[in-house]
Amino acid sequence: MIVIRTYVVSRLFYEADRGPRLATLPENRPRRNQVAPVSLLAERRSDAEATAALKLPDDWPDAHDTGFLRFRLRQMRERPEIQEWFVYAVVLPEGERPMIGHAGFHGPPGVNAVKAPDAVEVGYSIFEPHRRRGYATEVVRALIEWASREHSIQRFIASISPENEPSLALARRLGFKHIGQHWDEEDGEELEFELRISDGA
Ligand SMILES: CC(C)(COP(=O)(O)OP(=O)(O)OC[C@H]1O[C@@H](n2cnc3c(N)ncnc32)[C@H](O)[C@@H]1OP(=O)(O)O)[C@@H](O)C(=O)NCCC(=O)NCCS
Repeated sequence: MIVIRTYVVSRLFYEADRGPRLATLPENRPRRNQVAPVSLLAERRSDAEATAALKLPDDWPDAHDTGFLRFRLRQMRERPEIQEWFVYAVVLPEGERPMIGHAGFHGPPGVNAVKAPDAVEVGYSIFEPHRRRGYATEVVRALIEWASREHSIQRFIASISPENEPSLALARRLGFKHIGQHWDEEDGEELEFELRISDGA
């Protein structure tokens, strides 16, 4: 994340929900922006907060997400043209605009657990104090709606550990169907879920 593609993300959430509780990153900044992840990794947190117009949680990024940021930043630099297919900060649009999680895609169409050329894979995380309020549901629906509208994507994948009850429940609630499983070097066994939508869905 904080792959700070501010414009797409803001637009994404504002259009996805008429009365948005969620926004990501500053509106009206239609530009690619690697400043925030670089600042974060260099521990210049206030620079990252100013650039992204959000308040970071004190304990974020943790070691796991620092690794994740490094990985994404490398990808962004290698292929800036696919930045919109990475991850976004999820921000509450009130007060200090706290960042409450991150969500996005594993990459452009074709980068997904089942290697389907026409599918994208979604990923999401809501920080613990903000869970069970419907934020992940809202965010993932908005991502799907955006990818379908802007890029005509009709096939979505999610890979979820069989022990991850919250995420399994979320996927089912969104209409994903179990289609298979695989072994991930880092995350172990993962169940593969798919959502197919049709035009106008
Ligand atoms: C999975 C996760 C993103 C869900 O975020 P969330 O904002 O709490 O989800 P929502 O509030 O939109 O919940 C939607 C539904 O999912 C289900 N759900 C969510 N958390 C649940 C839990 N702890 N136990 C059982 N069901 C749960 C419920 O059906 C819930 O609806 P309800 O609260 O009205 O009953 C969050 O738990 C998380 O970040 N976990 C850690 C990271 C992670 O596992 N990411 C996914 C990797 S595949």
